[in-house]
Amino acid sequence: ELTTFTPSLHKKTNTLKYSDMATQLLAGKRGVIFGALDDQSIAWAVAEVCASMGAKFTLTNAPVALRFGQLDALGEKLGATIIPCDATSIEELENLFQQSEEILGGKIDFVLHAIGMSLNVRKKKHYTDSNHEWMKKTFDISAMSFHKMCQVLYKGDHMAEWGSIVGLTYIAAQRIFPDYGEMAESKALLESFARSFGYHFGEKKKVRVNTISQSPTMTTAGKGIKGFQEFFGYGDDMSPLGNAPAIDCANYCATLFSDLTRYVTMQNLYHDGGFSNMGMNPKLLEG
Ligand code: NAI
Repeated sequence: ELTTFTPSLHKKTNTLKYSDMATQLLAGKRGVIFGALDDQSIAWAVAEVCASMGAKFTLTNAPVALRFGQLDALGEKLGATIIPCDATSIEELENLFQQSEEILGGKIDFVLHAIGMSLNVRKKKHYTDSNHEWMKKTFDISAMSFHKMCQVLYKGDHMAEWGSIVGLTYIAAQRIFPDYGEMAESKALLESFARSFGYHFGEKKKVRVNTISQSPTMTTAGKGIKGFQEFFGYGDDMSPLGNAPAIDCANYCATLFSDLTRYVTMQNLYHDGGFSNMGMNPKLLEG
């Protein structure tokens, strides 16, 4: 049984720095980034990368996360305004996008949804003994928030033509990872919402909508999953390239926000070092 996490595995590919991204791929683009809590958050890396590539954006998180997180420091560093928004509230989403348009001076080119939370997982309820009121809240926060966000953007006509919306997901939507619990269904729902809205947004405004299915990543949300260190190590050994670090996920997001991927839409895109197409890696037997 794998019991220890070996950080060296993680570090081996994690050598890129924000300053390596000299290219101004996102110059002139306006965005909204959800979900940066602390400097481990995937959204935090996305914000750093987008800023280094010339984008302007607002940062947002739930009011409670703003109290306990470190978002102020990021906002100050990158010159980004922070707008509180509980992503389950239509009114707060409307306010967020209206204010973002005003602050950024035009319609929005890109949006990152990086929101996930499971009440049953957090409260250590076994999947076969789930509390269904908590499950509804989990779906609301982790999946329906994506639909609400898209709907507010759509009805308020906040997106610019050829804009790009990205949500973050995990392969537990397709395969069983028992400890991921009801987050598996949350992610399946999220991916389906992205496909469906991709159709409507494409027809209306040539806006693309995709999900990125990311490797296990050491963040607050990730570490909340029981046995996370073990399956982080398992994913790292199974994938020929190893687990994809947050910074590389951020780079991938930036390509999807850029004009280089204008015809990519309604996709669930694996960013996982090859994990999703592996059956067996002999490395796992080497101990
Ligand atoms: P994180 O804990 O840094 O980010 C999760 C964010 O969701 C936090 O900033 C939190 O405040 C926010 N959030 C929770 N409830 C909210 C609400 N009602 N309104 C607005 N925001 C709310 O963790 P991480 O890992 O960066 O998570 C970002 C996304 O990446 C999530 O969708 C997660 O499921 C996904 N992901 C994470 C993986 C991992 O192993 N860490 C792997 C694959 C996907």
